[in-house]
Parts: sequence; C-alpha cells; structure tokens
Amino acid sequence: MNSEQHFPSAEIQNRRYLGNKFKLLNFIREIVQLYCSSLETIADIFSGTGSIVSAFADKIIITNDLLYSNYLCNVAWFGNEHVRLDFLMKLISEYNQHEMFEENYMTENFAETYFSKTDCSKIGFIREDIEQKFLSGQILQREKAVLVASLIYAMDKIANICGHYDAWRRGVNFDRHLVLPMLNIPEENNKNNRCFNENANDIVKHIEADLIYIDPPYNSRQYSDTYHLLENVARWEKPPVYGVALKLDRKNLKSDYCTINATIAFEDLIQHCNARYILFSYNNMTQKGNPRSNARISDEDIFRVLESKGDVKIFSERYKAFSTGKSNICGNEERLFLCEVRS
Ligand SMILES: C[S@@+](CC[C@H](N)C(=O)[O-])C[C@H]1O[C@@H](n2cnc3c(N)ncnc32)[C@H](O)[C@@H]1O
Repeated sequence: MNSEQHFPSAEIQNRRYLGNKFKLLNFIREIVQLYCSSLETIADIFSGTGSIVSAFADKIIITNDLLYSNYLCNVAWFGNEHVRLDFLMKLISEYNQHEMFEENYMTENFAETYFSKTDCSKIGFIREDIEQKFLSGQILQREKAVLVASLIYAMDKIANICGHYDAWRRGVNFDRHLVLPMLNIPEENNKNNRCFNENANDIVKHIEADLIYIDPPYNSRQYSDTYHLLENVARWEKPPVYGVALKLDRKNLKSDYCTINATIAFEDLIQHCNARYILFSYNNMTQKGNPRSNARISDEDIFRVLESKGDVKIFSERYKAFSTGKSNICGNEERLFLCEVRS
C-alpha cells in the first residue's frame, strides 16, 4: 500500500474468476511458441479476465466477452486509448478516502448482503461519480474502464461470498472494507488492439487473427448468474433485482455454451473462424462431475468439428477442478486442442 496515495496495486490475475486460466499460462505459451509461427494478431473471444492474452502483449490483441463487466476490464488492460495514470491514481486515492455515508441504489438493494451497508454506500457513490465524470467529459472511455475495473477488483476482494454471487454468507461480520487498487496497466497499448462485448459467434464473423483462442464455459453454470452483481455495477443501469440472490434480469446474457445448444454453437463458431490457428481449451469433464459440472460438448464432437477445419493436435495438463462445491473431482484434465487451419 502506498501510504501517501492510499491504494494498493493490482495485476490482471488478482480476481477470483471461475475458469480463469492464469495457472495454465506457461503451458499455453509453450504450446504457442512451439507450434505456431509468425503470430502478429491474437484474438481471445471468450476472454473473461483477459489473463491469457496478457501473455501476448507484444502482439496485436483482440478481446471479446459477453459480459460488460469483463469487457470493461479488458478495455482497462488492453484498450488502445491513452490514459492519464497520475490523474487516475489521484482519483482512486480520493475514492479510497471518501467516508461520507449516503443512501443510494447499492444501499437500497444490497445493504448487509454481499457487502456491508457502509461499503454499499461507498460502491454506489464511486460508481455514480465515475459515470458523471464520463458523461461530463472529464474522463475518457478507457479511463472510465480503468476506474470501473478497479472497483470490480476491490469488490471482488471483500465480497461476502464463497467464490460466486449465487448467495451470500449469512451471519458474518463484514471485517474487510472497500479499497480500490490501481491496476498495473501501461499508459499506452498497441494502437491496433480492439475489445468487444458481443456474442463470440457474431464477432468471429467480423475479425481476422493469426490465432484465435477459444475458452467457452464448459458446463451449465451461466457466468451472468455467477457474476450478476459485478455486471450490475459495471452496467450501472440500476435495474430492479430479483430473488434471494438479488440478480438483475439476465435474459440477454445467457450463453448457448451452457445449454444443450453448445455443440451447434461450437460448430458454427469454428466454421466462421478466420485464422491460421485455433487454440481451444476444454476439460475432460463430459461425464465425471455432477450433472451441472458435466461438460457440454463431447470429445467426439470436438474432434469432428475441429478436424473439418484443419489438422488437430491435443495437449493436456492436470489441473484443479474449478467446481464451486466441495466435491474434489479426480482426474480433471485441462486440454488444449490446436487446430492448424487448412488454407
Ligand atoms: C471459461 S471463461 C474464460 C476465462 C478466461 N480464459 C480467463 O482466463 O479468465 C468463459 C467466458 O466466456 C464468456 N462467454 C460465455 N458465452 C459467451 C459467448 N457466447 N460469447 C462471448 N463470451 C461468452 C463468459 O462470460 C466467460 O467470461
């Protein structure tokens, strides 16, 4: 913690995110170095935290994710706009020193659930202030993204949850409080980087890259359910929330990859990939966990679809299952399918 400026710093991986592949980075980097030549542009079209493309900062980066909260984080880390780091650090420092309590959207809907009432007040105040600064032209788009991403990282650190926002823990003391970190970002990224917030099956028709990395959800858990509260704060449309978990309406955020349509979506996606290499991450959980954990696309379909596009190699690494429950699933393997696309 910087004593004068009142904030810690954060790296891209300092976020709890299901299916985040940061631990596989070396494995992925090694395979790319060994088997993929002359890469200038890398697209990560299910980018989540963006931890994988962060290893390829010397290339042109394209990111995409269905969740706006991830899109803003990706813009913060990889966006092509210049940001004023000193100015952002000053704002973050001021936010961290803000102590005035107010009632707002966050206190009205979430007090003493995922966060204490005081932290809800502070989250609501900060998010509204970021929006007003953006609307009045005091901060640019990537600067807004950096501030919202910082708020997301800070919320994630103190949220009263067991890894996801399907429920909060009852009867606890809120002993950790909101402290926004400064993201360890460069002032400038490659001017040709692009970040999108679309369905991967749509965006893939409009981009071209040397390598497209594909890391979709594997099972029936929708990320919009798991991260509804971060999505709500990122969007800041202040909608009504429903049910015991206080979720916003997510009907436009459902992913086909979590449903029985996963194979059809995957086939359509691969057909439209415009790349020399496709690198596909998928685990081997087709029949091994409980029904919610079972992978949606069978190995037969993965091979059939990828082989229709090019020559396929498979690599695997033992990896801790990212089940949110207590089950300790044995034999979980994270596999990488590398398809060298036929010209
Ligand atoms: C397994 S996670 C990716 C994790 C990422 N590789 C990382 O290291 O953080 C899958 C991501 O795909 C996103 N997603 C799900 N369906 C999508 C779709 N149809 N189009 C784009 N993104 C989607 C989810 O929001 C989630 O962030």
